[in-house]
Amino acid sequence: MALLQFISAGLPEVRVPTTVHSDHLIIADKGAKEDIKRAVSDHKEVYDFLSSAAKKYGIGYWRPESGIIHVVIFENYAFPGGLIIGTDSHTPNAGGMGMLGIGVGGSDAVDAMADMPWELVCPKVTGVKLTGKLVGSNWNSSKDIICKLAGILSVSGGKGKIIEFFGPGVQSMGATAMATVCNMSAEIGSTSCIFPYTQAMARYLSATKRAEIARTADRFKDTLLAADEGSENSYDEIIEINLDTLEPRVNGPFTPDLSHPLSRLKHALSESDWPVELSSSMVGSCTNSSYEDLEKVRHLVAQAKTAGIAKVKIPFLVSPGSEQIHATAEADGILQELREAGATLLSSSCGPCVGQWDRADVRKGEKNSVISSYNRNFAGRHDSNPATHSFVTSPELATAFAFAGRLDFNPITDSLPVPRNGVSLSDTAGTAAGSTFRFRPPVSTELPRAFDPGENRYQAPVTDASNLSVAIDPQSDRLQRLTPFEPWARGNASRMEVLLRVKGKCTTDHISPAGPWYNYRGHLENISNNMLIAAQNAFIPESDPRSRGHTLNPVTGKVDLIPAVAKDLRSKGVKWCIIGDSNYGEGSSREHAALEPRFLGGVAIIARSFARIHETNLKKQGMLPLTFNDWSDYDKIKLGDRIELVGVEHGEIRPGKRIIMKVRPKEGSVWKAMLNQSFHWKQIEWLRAGSALNHIKNTTLK
Ligand code: F3S
Repeated sequence: MALLQFISAGLPEVRVPTTVHSDHLIIADKGAKEDIKRAVSDHKEVYDFLSSAAKKYGIGYWRPESGIIHVVIFENYAFPGGLIIGTDSHTPNAGGMGMLGIGVGGSDAVDAMADMPWELVCPKVTGVKLTGKLVGSNWNSSKDIICKLAGILSVSGGKGKIIEFFGPGVQSMGATAMATVCNMSAEIGSTSCIFPYTQAMARYLSATKRAEIARTADRFKDTLLAADEGSENSYDEIIEINLDTLEPRVNGPFTPDLSHPLSRLKHALSESDWPVELSSSMVGSCTNSSYEDLEKVRHLVAQAKTAGIAKVKIPFLVSPGSEQIHATAEADGILQELREAGATLLSSSCGPCVGQWDRADVRKGEKNSVISSYNRNFAGRHDSNPATHSFVTSPELATAFAFAGRLDFNPITDSLPVPRNGVSLSDTAGTAAGSTFRFRPPVSTELPRAFDPGENRYQAPVTDASNLSVAIDPQSDRLQRLTPFEPWARGNASRMEVLLRVKGKCTTDHISPAGPWYNYRGHLENISNNMLIAAQNAFIPESDPRSRGHTLNPVTGKVDLIPAVAKDLRSKGVKWCIIGDSNYGEGSSREHAALEPRFLGGVAIIARSFARIHETNLKKQGMLPLTFNDWSDYDKIKLGDRIELVGVEHGEIRPGKRIIMKVRPKEGSVWKAMLNQSFHWKQIEWLRAGSALNHIKNTTLK
C-alpha cells in the first residue's frame, strides 16, 4: 500500500534510501522449503509487483525468505545514531543498535520517500534504569525486561514516549537481546525505544561485516552516542529494573500486558478458565529469532536429549529471523538438533506471528492455548481463531514448555519424567521409568564464530529505470491503483449516522484482520470487506453471535456485516462515523485500518482515546479522529443517534480548538458534548485536501 501511494504521488524515484521486504505473506504449514515454494507460486503477482515497483523507483527489494524486515534491517542497515521509519510497528527493533526506529503508516513513509519533512509530536522520555547483570542464571532474559515493563505500563502506557535505557545493566546485554526489548516496546504503545551505544553493538557490527561503522561509532561513544550528562534528572519518569532479581515472565492471554512472573503463573491458571494443556509452542518472529535465541533453544534440546527425552511433546515451530541466521544455525548444527527433537523448521518470515498459519490440529472456535517467543497475542492473531489463548514469553521458556506440553510447568522448580528406553514422552502417555529430569538454565552465546550470509535474495536498486514499468494487472483482485479521495466538502459532518459503537479493545487487527485478508493488502476495494469484522458492537447484545462484526443498517433497519452496511450507506450518499472506546487502533501500524473507513464513506472516528500511529493514519487519509472530553459521553451514544459536528469547516477548525458534537437521538431531545482534536495546521490542510497524499500532489508536485 505504501508503494501504491508512492506511485500515485507521481514522483520519478525515491529521494531517501528505501527498502521493501517480503515477509508477511508466507503461510506456515509444512516447513520452510515447501512453504516458500507455495508462497512464491500463490503470491507471484504481488512479488512481481513489488520487484517491478522497486526497480522503477530506485528501491532495494528483499525477496521472500531473505528474512523478517526488522532482522534484515538490524543485520544490514541499523547503525548507532541513525533514524529509521518503517511501515511496521516493530521498527523500534533498531534501538538495539542505538538507532531510533519508529513505526509509521504508509503515507508517512511516502513523505519520507519523497524527502518531505516527516513529523510527529515531540515525545516524552521515560528512562529505564537497568541495574545488576543479565546473565540468565535464573532463566531470565531480555524478553522478561519488556514483559515486565508491559505489566507496569500497560498497552497504552508508552504512548507519546520514547523509552530510553540506561544504567550498568545495559552493558551485560548483547545487541540482539537489546533489540528484543526495543522490538516489543511496540506492545506498550511507545513511539520508540533505544539503548545507548555499547561494545556489544560494536561486536555485532563487526560480526556482520560493518567494523568500519563500529570504529566510527567508537569515536563518538562518550558524546553523540551517549545520553546527555545529567539526563537522568530530566527524564519525564524513571523506572528501575534490577536484572539480578528479574523473574522470567509469561504474558497473556489476549493482551501482552497481562504479565505473570513464572512463579505465579500456576496460581493465575488456577484462578482462570484458560486451557492448561498447550497445543503448540513457537520460537521466532522479529522479536526473538536471533542466533543467540536459537542457540539457547538448542542448549535445552541437547540437555533433554542427554537425559533421555528425545522429542518435544507438542508441535514446536521454529523460524530463524533471517536467511543469514538460518544459514549460520544450519552450518553450526543447531537446526539439525532441533529437527531431531521434533521441531518443524519454518521459513525466515512472520508466519504464525501474523495469522499466516495453516493450522489443521485445532478447529476454528476450539478453545486451546499456545505459547510463543513472539510479541503480540491478540485474539485470533496467530490462527484467526478467537478461542486460541496466546501467551508470549522468552525462547527458552517456550522450549521448556514444548517439552512439558503444559502451562503449569515451571522449569525452575519442576521436573519432567524420563520415558522408558528412549521412547518419546508423548508415546509413553506420561508413564515414567522412575527417573526425572530438570532443565538447567540455557547457556547463551551472543554471536556465532562467523555468520554465514546464506543465499543472496536481495535485488539492488536500478539506476536507469526510464524504460521499466510496474506490473499491475487491471483485472487483478489483489492489486489496484489508488483513486484519490475527494477533498473535504462543506457539510460532510453535519448529519452522520453512527455505524457502530465499538466496545472494549479494538486493535488494528480488529479493524482490519490479518490472516487470509493479507492477500488483499494491495487492493483497497477488496480488503475493505474486512472492516471491523472482528470488533464488538455495543449496539448488539453480546449474547447474540452477531455482536461481533455486525451492525444495524440505520437506513434499512437490517443487521448485516459492518462493511456491507458501510458500503450501502456510501452508495446512498449517507455519511457516517464510528464511536470507539479507549486506545482505539492499538497494535500494528496497519494503515488499511484508516484507509478502509475512509474508502467506505466514513467521516469521523470519535473515541475515548487513540493509539498514536492509528490517529495519525486517520488524519493522513482525510478523516477526523476526535476524542471525548468527558469519557462518560461514550456510553450515552445510542442506536439510531445522528451526529453533527460543529467547528470542523474551513476556517473553523484550528489547532487546540474543541469541536462541539450535537447528538440527535431517535427519541428525546438533542444534547451536546465537547470533543478534542489534535490537528496542527499542516494536518488541517490534509483534511481539506482529502488526504495527505492529495496535499503532497497539490503542493510539492505543482
Ligand atoms: Fe512479522 Fe510478527 Fe514481526 S508480523 S514483522 S514477525 S511482529
